[in-house]
Amino acid sequence: MADRYATFTHTAPGRFLTRRLGLPQPVPLRRWSPLRPALEGPVLLLTAGDIPLPGLHESLTRTGLPPHNGPLGSRRPAAVVLDATGVSTVAALTDVHATLHPVVRSIAPCGRVVVLGAPLSPADHHQAAAQQALEGFVRSLGKELGGGRTVQLVRTPSAPAAEATLRFLLSPKSAYVSGQVVEVGDLSEYGESAEYAESVESGGCAADSAYAGGAEHAVRAGEADATAPGAVLQLPHPARPLAGRTALVTGAAHGIGTAVAEVLARDGAHVVVLDVPSAEPDLCRVAERVGGTALPLDITADDAGERIAAALPGGLGVLVHNAGITRDRRLTNMAADRWSSVLDVNLTSVLRTTDFLLKSGTVRRGGRIVATASIAGLAGNAGQTNYAASKAGIVGFVRSLAPRALAEHGVTVNAVAPGFIESRMTAAVPMLIRQAGRRMNSLGQGGLPVDVAETTAWLATGAVNGQVIRVCGQSLLGA
Ligand SMILES: NC(=O)c1ccc[n+]([C@@H]2O[C@H](COP(=O)([O-])OP(=O)(O)OC[C@H]3O[C@@H](n4cnc5c(N)ncnc54)[C@H](O)[C@@H]3O)[C@@H](O)[C@H]2O)c1
Repeated sequence: MADRYATFTHTAPGRFLTRRLGLPQPVPLRRWSPLRPALEGPVLLLTAGDIPLPGLHESLTRTGLPPHNGPLGSRRPAAVVLDATGVSTVAALTDVHATLHPVVRSIAPCGRVVVLGAPLSPADHHQAAAQQALEGFVRSLGKELGGGRTVQLVRTPSAPAAEATLRFLLSPKSAYVSGQVVEVGDLSEYGESAEYAESVESGGCAADSAYAGGAEHAVRAGEADATAPGAVLQLPHPARPLAGRTALVTGAAHGIGTAVAEVLARDGAHVVVLDVPSAEPDLCRVAERVGGTALPLDITADDAGERIAAALPGGLGVLVHNAGITRDRRLTNMAADRWSSVLDVNLTSVLRTTDFLLKSGTVRRGGRIVATASIAGLAGNAGQTNYAASKAGIVGFVRSLAPRALAEHGVTVNAVAPGFIESRMTAAVPMLIRQAGRRMNSLGQGGLPVDVAETTAWLATGAVNGQVIRVCGQSLLGA
């Protein structure tokens, strides 16, 4: 649904009026496109604290954004990376101010600030205090900058471990992600490269535009997933990091799920799109568009896991739990079926199918699971006790399962938590609440399904585990 307020603010009278009245002035966000795939302009690398992170310059160069350490003259930085991993005392925080204060005004519109922090030390409370201080700093700066600029904190044990995350955060793909704290892990002890899950030379990830009428025949016979045993390991091409992998996206006939399918296919995955049988015509159109395969199936079916596994004899590299519903009512007016249907689709089906697909080995070693939470699950929302409970449940699921899934199956488990995203779901929201949802974030606008999709695609490749990443333009809700 069109955001008429944002359109109005982009006109000359709209700009004048909103400035005079002190109203939000959302700028058009610079998103990824094949013609403009990267931020345009230099990346400035600054250091706070005594010990810089070894190899950071090289890691940034590998992201395709070679950094500058010195003055940029009249050029405005497209991004500033502040290495604050060496900040281990409160006194050293002075450097954070001293390095960023002179440059922050010059950052280009829709630019990026990424602060790199160190993991909090359980043995040194001075280091922990100084590093935790960065979180408050980053979240505040995100609320100050405006102009489509975003600010994040990445806590990382090493430069290589942060590469995939930096590549995402320093790109137009992260346009609607701001004010986030991302904990990056080193997955190498689980047999993963620091940056990617294993990828393989694939016998064929060519598009399969045919779709099947039933779950049993959803995938080409003999199709093998990249993570299958015996696969040949090689680092994937950064532009197609999912080449050779099979990805399943639930709830893919509409909205965010469709965008996820499109982005994963763009990144090289063979995408199997799943949705309820009644959505089959739309589902088949999506499958055709992404060169994937349709799997009409109600995810709440008791045997949904078994049917997915039967349809994917070659296994799965990426599992995206996106299907979701709302049945809003205040608790006093909420019938039991409204409660249970939301819990069934949004949470129970995620737990049941994940358990089955992990235990059966359908999700291969090196696989990635991305679930869909919501900021309603973090902040709560009147009229959504059922929905918020189901989405908070997703957060608990991710935090508990992630370390065990990695240790036992070599699989990461993360979630995206969308804020206000322009979709069928939010088009149904009453007008005033819809306007409030769009404005109450640092970017002053709603996100697009592709913003959630890009974040999902990064979690499907990056060395991140147990994280819940908000895609909400730094919403004030639950912040
Ligand atoms: N749109 C937002 O602002 C927003 C915000 C936060 C979270 N989310 C979450 O993002 C996800 C996608 O939301 P959306 O806005 O694209 O909604 P949507 O209604 O456009 O799409 C949801 C899809 O899930 C499918 N689905 C529902 N029940 C299913 C079932 N039992 N089995 C299989 N498929 C089923 C639907 O048919 C639909 O295609 C949901 O989990 C939602 O809760 C959305």
